[in-house]
This record gives sequence, C-alpha cells and structure tokens, in this order.
Amino acid sequence: MNASRIALVTGANQGLGRALVEGLAARMHPADLVLLTGRDQRRVSDAAADVAGLPGTRARVEGRVLDVTDTDAVARLADELRARYGGVDIVVSNAVARVLPDESQSARADEFIDVSNTATHAILRSFGPVLRPGGRLLVVASSLGTLGHLDPRLHPLFDGASLDQVEYAVESWRSAVHRGTATEAGWPVWLNVPSKVAQVAAVRAVAAERRDRDLASGTLIASVCPGMVDTATSRPWFSDYSQAQSPAEAARAVLDLLLAEHVDPALYGELVRFGKPLPWHDGTPPVEQDRLVRP
Ligand SMILES: NC(=O)c1ccc[n+]([C@@H]2O[C@H](COP(=O)([O-])OP(=O)(O)OC[C@H]3O[C@@H](n4cnc5c(N)ncnc54)[C@H](OP(=O)(O)O)[C@@H]3O)[C@@H](O)[C@H]2O)c1
Repeated sequence: MNASRIALVTGANQGLGRALVEGLAARMHPADLVLLTGRDQRRVSDAAADVAGLPGTRARVEGRVLDVTDTDAVARLADELRARYGGVDIVVSNAVARVLPDESQSARADEFIDVSNTATHAILRSFGPVLRPGGRLLVVASSLGTLGHLDPRLHPLFDGASLDQVEYAVESWRSAVHRGTATEAGWPVWLNVPSKVAQVAAVRAVAAERRDRDLASGTLIASVCPGMVDTATSRPWFSDYSQAQSPAEAARAVLDLLLAEHVDPALYGELVRFGKPLPWHDGTPPVEQDRLVRP
C-alpha cells in the first residue's frame, strides 16, 4: 500500500473510532485521505476539524455523514469511492449503539442489531468488492464474538455459515426477541454477545470466499477485539476500570494490523486480539453477565 490511499472508519466521531482516525491520520502520508464518518453532521465535522488540527496529523482528514443503518447510503458511499478513487484501501466497521445497563435490552434490540449487524453485512457487501489489492477491511467485534459464547443449540446457525445464512440467523434472533422467545431458544439476554458472534461469523463467511485471492494480493479481511477500552459506551458496564485502555492505547494494535506491510495468513478471516487470532470455538455462554441486565 503506497501513496494516495483512502481510509474510512465508521462511528468515528468519538471513542475507539476516533482514536483509529487519529492514528491513521498520524501514520498515513500527506497525500492519503482519512474519512471520519458518523451519523451526526455536527459531531462529525467537529471531530474531523479537531483531528485535522492535531500536531501529529499528516494525512488529509475529511468528515462524512454516514448513518450505518442506512444500507443504501453505505452502498452509495462505496460506489462514490470507486468512481472517484478507484476503490478504498482501509475500511473499519466500528460503530455501535450505546445501551446502558439500566435499559431494557429487548427494547433496544432493533437499533443495536441494525448498527452492529445489518450495517456490518452492508459494509462487507458494499466495500468488500471495492477494496483495492493490498487493502484492509476490519470489523471491530470483541472477544465475546467467539462461537463458544453462545448456547450450543445456536452454533449450527453460525458455524461455517455463508453471509446469507448469518443474516438469516441474525433476523431469527431479532424475531425471537420481538416474540419473547429468545431466552427459551438459547439466545443470551445481553445483546452484545450474539451481535459480536454474528459479526465474527459474517467476516469469516466473506473471508472464506475470497481468501486465496486476497492472500495473493496482500489483502486482509478480519474482525478485531480491541480489549477493554474506556469509552462512554463501555464505562457504565464495569465497576473496575483499572485495567481499561484509553482509546488511543486500544487503537494501537488495530492500527498495526491495518498498516502492516504484509498480511499474516494465520490472521486472515479470524478474530484478532493484540495481533493474535482467537480460536473461533472458544468461550462459554455468559451467564453472569446476563444477570446484570434487565431483559
Ligand atoms: N469499549 C470497549 O471496552 C469495547 C470492547 C470490545 C469491543 N468494543 C467495540 O469497539 C467499537 C467502538 O466502541 P466504543 O466503545 O468506542 O463506542 P463509542 O465510544 O460509543 O462509539 C460508538 C460510535 O458509534 C457511533 N454510532 C452509533 N450509531 C451509529 C449509526 N447509526 N451510524 C454511524 N455511527 C453510529 C457513535 O456515534 P454518536 O456519537 O453519534 O453516538 C459513536 O461515534 C464497537 O464496535 C464496540 O462494540 C468496545
């Protein structure tokens, strides 16, 4: 990946997304362009102006409104970048809807699923084909995204699934939440768990289809876990924050993966945390966390 690269981060006006934009802007070249995207015009333009004015910023930084739940807008932006620049070099699907511990998980399910999952599917479908050779497409998931965090009854929905099948599984989960049958079907109350497993499964599905081609051109598609990060979304969930990283600290390993010269085939399509793949079948269903939240 050389000069005049295009990078795009979703949900980037605050938190980890913004730290990723800051890091890209500092580590890419002056001819490169980093698109800081988010759903609110004012928050996006303020954040883009702030990052552009940082002393370490070298690349150009532009704010773009992109509500990731608007899948047509996702497709239009991908088309625009293909038409204007011939494609895109770095895409990070990072946005998440903030749900507080005292909110009903089921009442917020639609928004949460739309921002994390429907959007991830749209980004994979729209930006996968416009990723230039040598490019990177990362979905920010979590270590909760390994399959073992789900009830074994749900594993066949995601294990070895195609992107269409992952989408079907997500919509089944959404319907079960609406019908009030999710818990009896084995879905955890905490939305973050199935949502993150589905994100990792969606990446695995797309990666399985294009692995050989991508590895031949030094292109990487993967999901990532940033570790615990002190952000407005995560802070209300934890009583002990002593181990949490700042967004800038958490961004470092993700930036190293985005900007590495070579792609490690062992990381391709995998869930990567601090540069290492997390085994897909690891994890146990999060009984304890479920007790923390109202259904
Ligand atoms: N924090 C952690 O400990 C932790 C751990 C593991 C994984 N992660 C993952 O890291 C990623 C970033 O999380 P974070 O903690 O940095 O969260 P955050 O600080 O709350 O940032 C979330 C971003 O997503 C944006 N967003 C929400 N809805 C959107 C929409 N419809 N369209 C576009 N953008 C939208 C928010 O915009 P507004 O400002 O407009 O709300 C905000 O910019 C998430 O995928 C999260 O699951 C975080």
